[in-house]
Amino acid sequence: MLQIGLIGFGTVGSGVYERLTNTKEQLEQLLGEEILISAILVKSRQKQRAADIEAFVTTSWEEFCNSAEFDIIFEAIGGIEPALSYTSKWLEKGVPVITANKKLVAEKGQLLERLADQHSTYYGYEAAVAGGIPIINALKGTLTTTPISRISGILNGTTNYMLTEMIENHRGFADVLLEAQELGYAEADPTDDLEGFDAWYKIRILSRLCFGSWPSSNEFSRKGVSTIKDWHVEIGERLGFKLKLIAEAWQGEAKVNGSVTPAFLTQNEPLASVRGVTNGISIEGDSINQLLFIGPGAGKEATANSMVEDFLFHERTRHSQRSLGTKAEQRKESFTHAFVF
Ligand code: NAP
Ligand code: HSE
Repeated sequence: MLQIGLIGFGTVGSGVYERLTNTKEQLEQLLGEEILISAILVKSRQKQRAADIEAFVTTSWEEFCNSAEFDIIFEAIGGIEPALSYTSKWLEKGVPVITANKKLVAEKGQLLERLADQHSTYYGYEAAVAGGIPIINALKGTLTTTPISRISGILNGTTNYMLTEMIENHRGFADVLLEAQELGYAEADPTDDLEGFDAWYKIRILSRLCFGSWPSSNEFSRKGVSTIKDWHVEIGERLGFKLKLIAEAWQGEAKVNGSVTPAFLTQNEPLASVRGVTNGISIEGDSINQLLFIGPGAGKEATANSMVEDFLFHERTRHSQRSLGTKAEQRKESFTHAFVF
């Protein structure tokens, strides 16, 4: 019996619960054993929960920890603490942790990956970047040694949804933001979306996978959609440009550079046609020319699907894969060599 713990039961956590419950039979067949969602940790005692949740729900960390011998933890609470302490505890016990928490991965990913390596377990964060697009495991897997010169993308679903609605349907900022929140796309504190923090965490994670080292917080610049004025929108429309929040990282002469900024795209750039909550990612390199990934960037189902697939990815590959740290170093070497030659 594979015992599962859920930390967080909001948009993403409840999505994971539903995905695991709805596909239980198929997952059990694939894993060769029964699965059981043993316990769920939440914050609020007051919040009404669905009456049919078949798991022990608690607001006490101690009760959650003592409730089962977990084989896998899904973390979907967001932020640094207490997510960092909770994640560390399970990784130290050798229990894999799957997360959607891009802030924690960008700020503490190096530490947590090292911890996972030391305890021969897995810290999976496929869902932390571009919700439903399987970009992380593509970079860790089939693109491991592919030299990459630039990665760029629309990585925040909330603001892309807002810009699309404001430009195409002439809706107001506050009205569309409220809708994005109701649809479950926005962060608990939407400042993270509007000021570009969310995209900035995501591009730092992608940069580490493309170029081999974790950028520190002061290495990549950041501007959010809050800097956009009405006249930017009008001029863009009149001249036929598409206004997008673009995150990118590229290999410079001496170092990797990165930024998040609103930008005007010409109509023929592939990312210009990425509308609504959809995200788009472009990867460039000599041997691949340009790869494009387009798909849902936020939302309950897409994100939960990524978390469950991430767990299955780990289960399928854990006997054959070398640690991510080692792979990242390999990528760095192969990239450097590509330039030396
Ligand atoms: P959410 O709807 O606000 O849900 C957060 C959940 O975490 C709630 O169940 C909350 O408990 C629980 N929680 C918060 N602090 C806690 C604490 N200290 N102890 C225990 N439980 C706590 O957030 P969300 O949209 O699901 O996002 C969760 C994570 O996924 C974030 O890192 C976010 O960036 C990431 N993410 C979100 C999306 C998306 O489309 N929403 C997509 C990709 C990634 P209560 O229920 O009691 O309030
Ligand atoms: N708030 C995030 C977004 C959630 O809108 O892209 C998905 O990471």
